[in-house]
Amino acid sequence: MASHSRLSLSLIFPFLLLLLLLSVATQGKHLSFSNRREATLSDLQLAFRRNQLTSRQLVEFYIREIHRLNPILKGVLELNPDALAQADRADRERRRAGRPLPKLHGIPILVKDNISTKDKMNTTAGSYALLGSVVPRDAGVVSKLRKAGAIILGKATLSEWSSYRGHNIPSGWSARGGQGKNPYTMGDPCGSSSGSAISVAANLVTVSLGTETDGSILCPSDSNSVVGIKPTVGLTSRDGVVPITPRQDTVGPICRTVSDAAYVLEAIAGEDIRDKATIEASKYVPKGGYAQFLRINGLRGKRVGIVRLFYEFGNNTFLQKTFEQHLKTLRQRGAALVDNLVIDNINELFTSSSEGIALSIEFKLSLNSYLKNLVASPVRTLADVIAFNKKHAKLEKLDEYNQDFMVEAQKTTGMGKIENEALSNMTRLSENGFEKLMKVNKLDAVAIPGVDFSPGVDFRHVLAIGGYPGIVVPAGYDKDEPFGICFGGLRGSEPKLIEIAYSFEQATKVRRPPPRLQKLKA
Ligand SMILES: *[C@@H]1O[C@H](CO)[C@@H](O)[C@H](O)[C@H]1NC(C)=O
Ligand SMILES: *[C@@H]1O[C@H](CO)[C@@H](O)[C@H](O)[C@H]1NC(C)=O
Ligand SMILES: *[C@@H]1O[C@H](CO)[C@@H](O)[C@H](O)[C@H]1NC(C)=O
Ligand SMILES: *[C@@H]1O[C@H](CO)[C@@H](O)[C@H](O)[C@H]1NC(C)=O
Repeated sequence: MASHSRLSLSLIFPFLLLLLLLSVATQGKHLSFSNRREATLSDLQLAFRRNQLTSRQLVEFYIREIHRLNPILKGVLELNPDALAQADRADRERRRAGRPLPKLHGIPILVKDNISTKDKMNTTAGSYALLGSVVPRDAGVVSKLRKAGAIILGKATLSEWSSYRGHNIPSGWSARGGQGKNPYTMGDPCGSSSGSAISVAANLVTVSLGTETDGSILCPSDSNSVVGIKPTVGLTSRDGVVPITPRQDTVGPICRTVSDAAYVLEAIAGEDIRDKATIEASKYVPKGGYAQFLRINGLRGKRVGIVRLFYEFGNNTFLQKTFEQHLKTLRQRGAALVDNLVIDNINELFTSSSEGIALSIEFKLSLNSYLKNLVASPVRTLADVIAFNKKHAKLEKLDEYNQDFMVEAQKTTGMGKIENEALSNMTRLSENGFEKLMKVNKLDAVAIPGVDFSPGVDFRHVLAIGGYPGIVVPAGYDKDEPFGICFGGLRGSEPKLIEIAYSFEQATKVRRPPPRLQKLKA
């Protein structure tokens, strides 16, 4: 017995010594800059636990990168003066905690500038009209982020008023934020959550929040080669978010990976008594959260619909080939593709003016109510905003960019016959269109090329008017220009969409950081 144990000890001893040496070696190793770039939430949490990184070091790294790159990219509108203090607090909490902390604990996040933060930062939707306004409280999603221990690093730029000022406001431009740039092309970043997408793409922050009314998360995610989730309307609270319409507005994550996006969604989804829609939609929040759906085999057994109308690439055979290859990958990973589907009423859907009619009145009503509820504000009504823009025409570049959407909205006089007809038209179009397609074919999702290649047939619009969820994953680069693939589904289908998106992402691993940033010096 005794000799036996001595024998095993002598065998084990060199092995123990090796382990000890290894752990000393990794303890001393600091994450290099290249590790910090592209780091996922899991990478960062591991580095925190191994004492290779602190939240302060991470925030300092991002602040340096923002100083270097933001003068060119303009993804960040304001830095939170309290970010370093929040990082120090997270570091202290981590040292004291004898238990695993939430995935977002000590992680820097940017939120779009139309999401209220009750701190030293301004919430302005990019406009000088709201500068100096005082919000009553943190937005519902922001208080959930704080509870999860996240560090609010700052506010992200956007298309001013989320593109609801005038039809000629460029994507990613706001008076306060300037012109945001796509870090891959230095061109159009797409809007309106442009800064959120630019900033995660360029590694100016770990993760971010955007908002979508019609395309504002999906399009910038697609253009900047990142992952965006547009949640089912009501899954995340809109309280404290500068509104366009509660019927379509939704807040969601923009991140570099599907898993990071799932963790952020997990942190912000769920009931908020100040947004009634979240109470109804809370039935969609799965017990145990969204991370359980990050399954490498997530495509197995899924039925994925292909609507060929969205696969018109003109003469671009590269795109044609790439997407056919992606469809093959979906099949190889175990999905059943239901091809050559048609959305019955697609022509009516794309020519209908119902959304425009509804948004106009809804924007006026909901913006007036948001402005009224501010503690203090230079503007209290939509009429005040229009007058402000005229008075400060130079500041708001009114000579160059108009405010016709706002002026039209101001002319509306309440929910009348036409407006109600527009609402019932959209319900009918959704039920007899996308919803019918999904149900008749027993689909789990529809897969669409993320970019609207064929003008006028924009899938995001289908998801927008029905309050349906969608997720964009990087799918390739046409020369410099990134493009994604979008998976859309019925209300509450986020678990399935995450399974599909994660499995696709892991099979393809398309994303690469913007190549030209290393050379940029501000
Ligand atoms: C908020 O706006 C005021 C007025 O322009 C400015 O002085 C302040 O620095 C802004 N806050 C932050 C955090 O940038
Ligand atoms: C900001 O938030 C809403 C709600 O999430 C979003 O959908 C919309 O595009 C934004 N509105 C404005 C006026 O900035
Ligand atoms: C495709 O190429 C042909 C010949 O070059 C051209 O006539 C046609 O307009 C192109 N079609 C599209 C959709 O770009
Ligand atoms: C609603 O749909 C009907 C039938 O397509 C159409 O004639 C009508 O103009 C639509 N109304 C609105 C307000 O869009």
